[in-house]
Amino acid sequence: MKYKNIFILTGAGISAESGLRTFREAAGLWNEYSVEDVASIEGYMRNPALVLNFYNSLKEDMKKAEPNVAHRAITKLQKNYDGKINIITQNVDLLHEKSENENILHMHGQIEQYVCLNCRKVWETEESVYISTPCPYCGIDKKLKPHIVFFGEIPLYMEQIERMLMDCNLFISIGTSGVVYPAAGFVRLAKHYGAETIEFTLDGTENALHFDKSVFGKAGETFPLFVEKLLNDE
Ligand code: OAD
Repeated sequence: MKYKNIFILTGAGISAESGLRTFREAAGLWNEYSVEDVASIEGYMRNPALVLNFYNSLKEDMKKAEPNVAHRAITKLQKNYDGKINIITQNVDLLHEKSENENILHMHGQIEQYVCLNCRKVWETEESVYISTPCPYCGIDKKLKPHIVFFGEIPLYMEQIERMLMDCNLFISIGTSGVVYPAAGFVRLAKHYGAETIEFTLDGTENALHFDKSVFGKAGETFPLFVEKLLNDE
């Protein structure tokens, strides 16, 4: 086994071939919606109904989506590779879970979870949530916020992630533009601690210069080939 510890960072690009929209490309969500309106605490305070509806609609798209060959390649790697493989995803969709990937951390939250701003409990539901939906724990309405990390909020699991970055020997990034921190800085930390680094991306990313290697093209085409190579070299 060449790598004892593999860290896989994924972004919206890995879900693009499952039909889900990315954020910053021409047809991306942030070209249609204002981040300040739908992905900030101020936006939520101003108009919670708008925010809840935005994520209700994303949730419907995500429910219909199926994992693609890149997700399946991770499944194959995790089932057949001896080393430890952690997946840290910025995605709020559940395609890693649907593909039976393991050791997944949703650092930006996930689409089916809501946090109650009154009692702070986290609730999970596949159904749409409205401002009239009461918190199932404290019974108060108008307080459920999507449990998604908004701009200005600190991503989840950061201590665990930092330890994983220190421990990994191979850092893989798939389908992320490398502009949103702290995730965009992970490659530098991993490298600092001695990992080899490789990214799979459609075209160039902001972070290209920090990777030992950039592989361009659709992750569904490039990543499975890399997995085969890793398994053959084992
Ligand atoms: P972006 O939309 O910023 O970047 C997606 C990246 O995926 C781009 O570099 C694309 O070129 C690449 N890409 C697209 N299709 C691909 C394919 N088939 N194969 C490989 N790469 C492909 O999305 P993220 O980097 O994930 O935060 O964005 C980071 C965060 O910004 C998101 O988690 C989201 C957003 O605001 C929250 O929602 C909290």
